[in-house]
Amino acid sequence: MSKERVLVVDDEKLIRFTLRESLAREGYVVHEAADVAEAIREFERHSIDCAILDHRLPDGDGLDLLRTFKEQAPDVPVILMTAYSTIQKAVEAMRLGAFTYVNKPFESDEMVLSVRTALETTRLRREVQTLRRLHQAEGLTDVIGESVAMREIVELVRKLASSQANTVLLLGESGTGKGLVARALHNASARRDRPFLTITCTAIPETLLESELFGHERGAFTDAKAAKPGLFEVADGGTVFLDEIGDMPFGLQSKLLQVLEDRTFKRLGGVRDITVDVRVVAATNTDLEAAVREGRFRTDLFYRLNTFPITLPPLRERSADIPVLLRFFIDKFNREFNKQATGADDDAMAALMRHPWPGNVRELRNAVERAMILGPGPELTKSDFAFSLEAGGDPDRGSGRLLDLPADGLDVEELERDLVRQALEKTGGNQSRAAQLLGMTRDQIRYRIEKYRDTSRGS
Ligand SMILES: Nc1ncnc2c1ncn2[C@@H]1O[C@H](COP(=O)(O)OP(=O)(O)OP(=O)(O)O)[C@@H](O)[C@H]1O
Ligand SMILES: [Mg+2]
Repeated sequence: MSKERVLVVDDEKLIRFTLRESLAREGYVVHEAADVAEAIREFERHSIDCAILDHRLPDGDGLDLLRTFKEQAPDVPVILMTAYSTIQKAVEAMRLGAFTYVNKPFESDEMVLSVRTALETTRLRREVQTLRRLHQAEGLTDVIGESVAMREIVELVRKLASSQANTVLLLGESGTGKGLVARALHNASARRDRPFLTITCTAIPETLLESELFGHERGAFTDAKAAKPGLFEVADGGTVFLDEIGDMPFGLQSKLLQVLEDRTFKRLGGVRDITVDVRVVAATNTDLEAAVREGRFRTDLFYRLNTFPITLPPLRERSADIPVLLRFFIDKFNREFNKQATGADDDAMAALMRHPWPGNVRELRNAVERAMILGPGPELTKSDFAFSLEAGGDPDRGSGRLLDLPADGLDVEELERDLVRQALEKTGGNQSRAAQLLGMTRDQIRYRIEKYRDTSRGS
């Protein structure tokens, strides 16, 4: 790290001298100024990391100088030197954003310590800000998708994140990104600095699940040696993600409903009402309405959860997302495996576009990972994906589709032209609806219509 620069502003030569000596000994580069004018010059000329100001200067007031510095560089910590008699000034200085004040007379060690603390704190603050910015950006930029359906979902998630909606239901087949969207919803919300806690309702015995969610008091059951807060209590201010909500035991559903209605519950064995502010995001890949019909899921809970449903469509219904997801996963695994894969060749791309992806995005991710580990070249070929594509899903259907391919390979353009034509026929020539059907934007389908019009004219 380069040396940090400290500016010392005082008209007393002796003070400047002592501070310069002790700060330089600590490895700082020290700049000096005897009055306001010189201080401003020095501050502008060097990139100062910390400033020490006397409160009274020959041509002005240290507080005005503080104000000027804070306007120019709000992040640079300023330490004000004050006299005991001017406590009022110290208070004012803190209000104006001084890092701290040091009463005169002081030991130079004391000042050195203040400078070190000021610089350290500023550095940490900057790091936290950077991390927070990265963290926020992560929220929705992590959800990849260019299809109309995915864009709408991202938009909806953004709206819900900043809304008061405190119950959101995520529906969709396995691997469509429900877990990812739940986390994105949290990260994009004002709750992001509070906990995001997940619990999977499957395969946890009912009493255990109840105590995990709501906590228990000491002695509530045989093993309850000490009281323990539940997820809802710990997540106060944040988000609780209830995965596989369809598997929640019937007996617990009414207690959950009560929490959703008034955010209040009791610990197991407890008498005290506990009120929390949590957003509940629930997800399932099962048909909740069927569960309601079959009496396995409470109707009232279903309606309460279903206020803001988001359905993630299966990947096969939004093949426009396949190329961008492929790109995203190639980049990701390039970084993780230190590889230089460039992309997939036309043959491979065609096969990926045709695959039904019963395991959705998760299956695609695994296929890319495997192809990149096993594949030799920088460009991924169909044979690198063969294992995944043939093994995935229903063995007959999965491989059957691949084996349908003509022996001399496939003309991707022809396939695409055929799809566009079919979609237009199906929608009576409605470009918007045809685009939707193909998971494209209107611009994307228009572009293709133009392109194929030209090629058919040319041939
Ligand atoms: N739109 C997307 N962009 C980027 N990655 C995605 C997207 N959708 C899913 N993924 C990735 O695919 C994998 C599966 O997603 P996730 O676990 O969220 O699915 P799920 O719907 O919760 O599945 P399940 O019902 O099996 O729990 C994860 O690694 C996730 O990061
Ligand atoms: Mg999941």
